[in-house]
Parts: sequence; C-alpha cells; structure tokens
Amino acid sequence: MEIIILKSAASVAAMGAELVQELIRVRPAAVLGLATGSTQLSLYQELVERYLNGEISFRQATSFNLDEYLGVAADDPQSYRAYMDREFFDRVDIDKRQTFLPVCEQGKNPVRVGPRYERKIREAGGIDLQILGIGANGHIGFNEPSSSLGSRTRIKTLTRQTCEDNSRFFKGDEFQPVLAITMGIATIMEARKILLLATGANKAGAVSEMIEGPLTAMCPASVLQMHEHVTVLLDEAAAGGLQNRDYYDWTRLQNESLQDRFGVFHDE
Ligand code: F6R
Repeated sequence: MEIIILKSAASVAAMGAELVQELIRVRPAAVLGLATGSTQLSLYQELVERYLNGEISFRQATSFNLDEYLGVAADDPQSYRAYMDREFFDRVDIDKRQTFLPVCEQGKNPVRVGPRYERKIREAGGIDLQILGIGANGHIGFNEPSSSLGSRTRIKTLTRQTCEDNSRFFKGDEFQPVLAITMGIATIMEARKILLLATGANKAGAVSEMIEGPLTAMCPASVLQMHEHVTVLLDEAAAGGLQNRDYYDWTRLQNESLQDRFGVFHDE
C-alpha cells in the first residue's frame, strides 16, 4: 500500500483529483469505480472544477458505482443515483448512459442484480481505478464486518452503526433503508488500481486496522493489504492512529524523488 498523509481534507481531495486526472490523461476511455458519501464530495467538487477549467474530460469514460440502496427509487433524492447526478454526472461531460449503479427497479428481483452488474463490469473490460471511502467500522462499499472476502455484488444488510452514521442524511420521518446492493470484496479487488480516501478523526481506528491490523473479514478494508496497487490518501486526523507513521512519510519522500527523476510510472 502506498500511504500518503496530507495536511487537510482539502489536500486529500486535490491529490485524489490529480490521480484521477492523470489516469484520464493516459486513458481517456477509463472505467472508473465510484463511491458516494461525505468524503467523496470534495473529490467530485475538485473534478468538476478541473472539468470547468478545461483540464479534464470524462466524455469517453465509463463508471460503475459501488453501491445503491434497496427500496429507494432512482429518482428519489436519497438514492445514490441522485447523489451522483447532483454532485458529479450532471456537472461534467460524462455520457450518462455510460454510468452504472447496482440498481434494482421496483418490483424486480434484487437477487438478479448482482450477477448482471458483475457481467456488465466484465463486458466494459474491468475497472481501471476504484475509488473507495471507508466506514468507521472498516467497511468498503457496503461490505460490512464479517462480509466474505470472496464476496460478489449482492444484497447486504447494513449494520446498526452504518445506519446510525448515515442517519445524518435522513430527516426524522424519512424512510432510511437498511438494505443495499453493493459490489463484493472480490469485485473490488479485481480493479486494476484502488484509491482510498479517508478524512477525519472518526476514521482513525478503521484506518489503522486497515493498514496495520491483521487481514480479517472483521475489517473488510484490511483485504486491501492483498492488492498490488492501492493508494491511501489520509488527512492528519484520519492518520492519527498509525504506529508506523514515520516510515510512510519517509517512503513518500523516496517515491517523490524517484518520480522527479523518472516520471510517473504507467503500465504499458
Ligand atoms: C458509499 C460507500 C461507503 C462510504 C463509507 C464512508 O458508496 O461505499 O463505503 O465510502 O461509508 O462514507 P463517508 O465518506 O460518508 O464517511
């Protein structure tokens, strides 16, 4: 894992956007794996600004979101489709027909959604860059603790903690879903590259378990220890629980000087 600790949440978003921009520069028809949640809001904001400045175009890109609530219609403002349209898709030049979420239409069998979504990802050639956030309980996507590390896109029941964490987005009388369809852990692990963003002190525990803890289904994000190309961008608060902090900063300096000499490495 490449661990980069930055001074603020704004710097995390700026560097995240930089990495997405670099990918789109070398591969304009990139397949992006996208996430929702508060952490990603400033990343999308950054990407929108770069698009408006003419620095990046998503015209040829395809996207697959990690998850969608079950029982919330796509046109409901609480759906992740609505979030993505509002925060990103409607503000850049991506072809919306090329943007996918694991949606289950009203009255359709949700069990069928997962295998279909997996097929669609495969047909698109797989995900080039998967963007992730992390739950305070270590979840990635909605793969809650105890999720199989070999799981595929499927229905998941959210933990009480996740429901409580997300209750800030719902008004008192509003329906808050407890079920979601999420890419599985094995699905996420097939992405060619992974970029995980975490900010704020409430993520410090999950972040240190992910990076320095044992590989365990009780911290689903710890599976990323097994992925070859993971970059983790943290602000100071989210990095607060790391034991090995000096080493990560030292490594970053070495990597920067290698990049200064040889440029950013891209697979041929
Ligand atoms: C959402 C998702 C979740 C969030 C995580 C962090 O698509 O996949 O794993 O990334 O719950 O959410 P925030 O950023 O709201 O703390």
